[in-house]
Amino acid sequence: MALALPVLAHPGPASPSDAVPGQSSLFTTYPGKKTPLAPQYLKPIPATEKGPAGQDDLLFQNLLAAEWAIYSFYQLGVETFSSSDFAKKGYPNTTYQRITEMRDNEAGHVRIFQEQISKNSVKPGPCQYNFAKSVGKSPEAYLAFQVFLEVSSMAYLTGLIDQADLNISKSALMAIGQVESRHNAWALIDAWNTSPFSGPSDTVYPYANQILDSTNTFIVTGSCPSENPPYPYPNQHLPQLAFKKKGTTGKPGSTIEFVWKDKKPTFDKKEYFAVFYHGVHHISVPYNPKENRVEIPAEFDSGSSIIIVIIADTKDAPTEQSVVAGPLIILEQPGALTKQVNAV
Ligand SMILES: *[C@@H]1O[C@H](CO)[C@@H](O)[C@H](O)[C@H]1NC(C)=O
Ligand SMILES: *[C@@H]1O[C@H](CO)[C@@H](O)[C@H](O)[C@H]1NC(C)=O
Repeated sequence: MALALPVLAHPGPASPSDAVPGQSSLFTTYPGKKTPLAPQYLKPIPATEKGPAGQDDLLFQNLLAAEWAIYSFYQLGVETFSSSDFAKKGYPNTTYQRITEMRDNEAGHVRIFQEQISKNSVKPGPCQYNFAKSVGKSPEAYLAFQVFLEVSSMAYLTGLIDQADLNISKSALMAIGQVESRHNAWALIDAWNTSPFSGPSDTVYPYANQILDSTNTFIVTGSCPSENPPYPYPNQHLPQLAFKKKGTTGKPGSTIEFVWKDKKPTFDKKEYFAVFYHGVHHISVPYNPKENRVEIPAEFDSGSSIIIVIIADTKDAPTEQSVVAGPLIILEQPGALTKQVNAV
């Protein structure tokens, strides 16, 4: 399902063009179905001066491009559903309101990232997004995907901190990550009636651009504005991984068989490893391309947050270049949620 963004379709709320994140209800509690973003912010913004790029421009260009997908997901939810759609399915009657507020927050993120990119660099605009059909139809599928998006954004936000040059950029990424985490905690408590905790640490994955690249799956091919820089940049264009849902729980101690989503890596005659990341640690497991099956390390605690897995040609994947496929994000939260998400 291709979703056109609601660009320029309406005048929007009062003076959104001056709204500053942190100083406007447009980015907190604005309840409207129309986007809180003013038209000039809903498209690429060209560089207005010539000169060297700001130190963290590239980072924020990548992040803004990712944010457009997340904002669009929430705007889709706000436009598609109503309060009663969620209440009818037994979700709390505040569910739609929360989705609207999260949409407002994400619009605020768009503005914050736009502000962080210097005048010497283009600020990428939104593309069209292609979420699974069920996401735009079923409240359950929508809410399940919401958790998946929020934990994925947590994973690349923490990774991007490694790339930031400026201290203030690192702090901003951390501050945004806190908000995504609250969105996730809200869903786990209110929508899924489960524990909001992710164990002592969320999962750290060092090569954030690889996670960003995996979000390209949601972009309608050729739909991005021509002014946008390549996303993400740099991009290794690694083969993407999935796993067969049948016959596995996707939990620590269970075996998964990988599925190639687009292309398969060329495997040489050498050792390969599946490297599993959970919390701040990772565990390498020998991977035989012919078998294409590995056991998720039983050492990991079960039922919390996510496990990220990649295939590498060196134990522990010490460099970005040593990764040959992935990353795959496996959601570990208990119950119906995991079932729905790992089936997305
Ligand atoms: C929402 O649910 C609460 C608690 O069940 C109830 O007190 C409240 O009246 C409901 N609000 C609406 C708008 O339906
Ligand atoms: C960032 O913070 C560290 C530690 O306080 C400091 O040494 C460094 O100079 C700061 N870097 C910049 C670019 O301000």
